[in-house]
Amino acid sequence: MGFAVRNNVDLTSANTLRLPVHAQYYCEVYVDEEIAEAIAYAEARDLSLTILGDGSNVVLPPRIEGLTLHMRSQAITQEENLITAASGVNWHSLVMRLCEDGLCGLENLAGIPGSVGAAPVQNIGAYGVQVEETIVSVGVYDRLDGCTRVLSRDDCCFGYRDSIFKGAHRDRLIVTRVSFALSDHFEPITSYRDLQGADVTTPLSMATLVTRVRKGKLPDPTTTPNVGSFFKNPVLSESTYTAFRLTHPEAPEGVTSDAGTKIHAAWLIEQCGLKGHRVGGAMVSSQHALVIVNAGKATYRDIRLLAAHVQDVVSDRFNLSLEFEPTFYGN
Ligand code: EPU
Repeated sequence: MGFAVRNNVDLTSANTLRLPVHAQYYCEVYVDEEIAEAIAYAEARDLSLTILGDGSNVVLPPRIEGLTLHMRSQAITQEENLITAASGVNWHSLVMRLCEDGLCGLENLAGIPGSVGAAPVQNIGAYGVQVEETIVSVGVYDRLDGCTRVLSRDDCCFGYRDSIFKGAHRDRLIVTRVSFALSDHFEPITSYRDLQGADVTTPLSMATLVTRVRKGKLPDPTTTPNVGSFFKNPVLSESTYTAFRLTHPEAPEGVTSDAGTKIHAAWLIEQCGLKGHRVGGAMVSSQHALVIVNAGKATYRDIRLLAAHVQDVVSDRFNLSLEFEPTFYGN
């Protein structure tokens, strides 16, 4: 056995909300063979399995029953502009390294907390770019038949903060590596309001700017524990958006795509006076209304109650439902 299973492991520092969490059994895996061995270990003992990356988009219960598998693989390979990175690679480090090499396509996604393996799961996006645009394939371990396989971008069914890995196959497919097709021709994407007029000539200067903008707007998870946007921006049909604008002409303009018009959940939440609202140690960030922070000793229950309260208040006031962006574990 190439991996060690430990009992009753404290994962408080392994989730960026810093919720107090213990895993019944825990192991770190570095290569595909270890993933297969760890899964066989869990199945032989009838243990449920939880896959953990950098813990930056999950809300974990106080105790995770079964085996928690922490993806630690660090391999990165390059064939011309095709980059393949293992799940355990830190996302921001990968982006900065590729930008330093002059490779383009991921620069607007700099500064997003998390691991490479988590990037396709919620199709991370920021500043006018979604990761699906550069992904060519995703390597997975399929628990159904114990085989590794490669999924094409189409197989991944990407949507706004969504993919096959979040939905029906959440417990079946484990992301082991992600391949990106990058370009050596820099075309800055500055459509997003905060980047308009930016004078950037290289992917590295764009990544540096994006990192600075993010730091200025969003609470830093290393000092103020959080999981980034807690709510997705609602996507409205043309008629619903028209009606919304008529009733709320003061709302910031939405962003229209094929799927509909995305309106700003942060604005809805702020209008409800919820910034700074607390349940126990959980608080709606007073810096950015989309973010729920652990303001000190927050529990899983505090986070759940506060998130549900925000949904209820926004629904009562605007008749719109907000969806959670992070994945909740436990009941
Ligand atoms: N606003 C408020 N109150 C606030 C913050 C914002 O009213 O406290 C309003 C402002 O009018 C602002 C608008 O909401 O113009 C939009 O806010 P922002 O520009 O910060 O972007 P966002 O749409 O809220 C999305 C992503 C972020 C991503 C940024 C930048 C979602 C759910 N969130 O936020 O993603 O960084 O755009 O591209 O799509 C994440 O996924 O964790 C994340 C941080």
